[in-house]
Amino acid sequence: MTDSATPLSFFDEIGGHDTFVRLVEVFYRGVADDEVLRPMYPEEDLGPAQERLTLFLEQYWGGPTTYSQERGHPRLRMRHAAFHVDPDARDRWLAHMRVAVDELHLPPLHEATLWDYLQRAAYAMVNTFEPSGIGPAAGARAAASFPVTAAPPADADPAR
Ligand code: HEM
Repeated sequence: MTDSATPLSFFDEIGGHDTFVRLVEVFYRGVADDEVLRPMYPEEDLGPAQERLTLFLEQYWGGPTTYSQERGHPRLRMRHAAFHVDPDARDRWLAHMRVAVDELHLPPLHEATLWDYLQRAAYAMVNTFEPSGIGPAAGARAAASFPVTAAPPADADPAR
């Protein structure tokens, strides 16, 4: 419940649960037909993934905290480490989101706020610049573009 002393959350301002359900539904329609993104999703049924993204976005924007109750801390970078998120995957993800955001017909300021966040989040999720390797990587860390190299031995001569 809200009263005049309680500012509306962004979640409420853009229409609450129904808006987020619509956003993610339209987004996943795009994913379902995407030859690069679709194979990345481990489950045959996209429904559970759709539900997780909806709950996450609702929580992020001030709605119910069901996501964390069910999934714990989001740790999104870590949760995406197993997937080959290169710039192509990012751009495809964003293209489907753009269609979904457009379909909401939000007021311009709300739309800009939502879109700005989605863009920044998608750019932050990129974990490799290797062009190949679609789908869950055999070794998530090995697929990342920042290989962890062993530190030099303590007695290594720095002048050498
Ligand atoms: C940049 C391109 C991205 C790709 C290719 C991608 C791909 C994936 C894949 C394959 C999954 C696993 C599906 C599942 O089991 O839930 C997933 C999960 C998820 N993604 Fe993304 N994602 C991207 C960006 C984002 C962004 C920007 C967000 C948030 C704004 C996000 C939020 C989530 C969430 C909340 C989950 C479920 C995490 C969990 O609780 O297990 N993703 N993503």
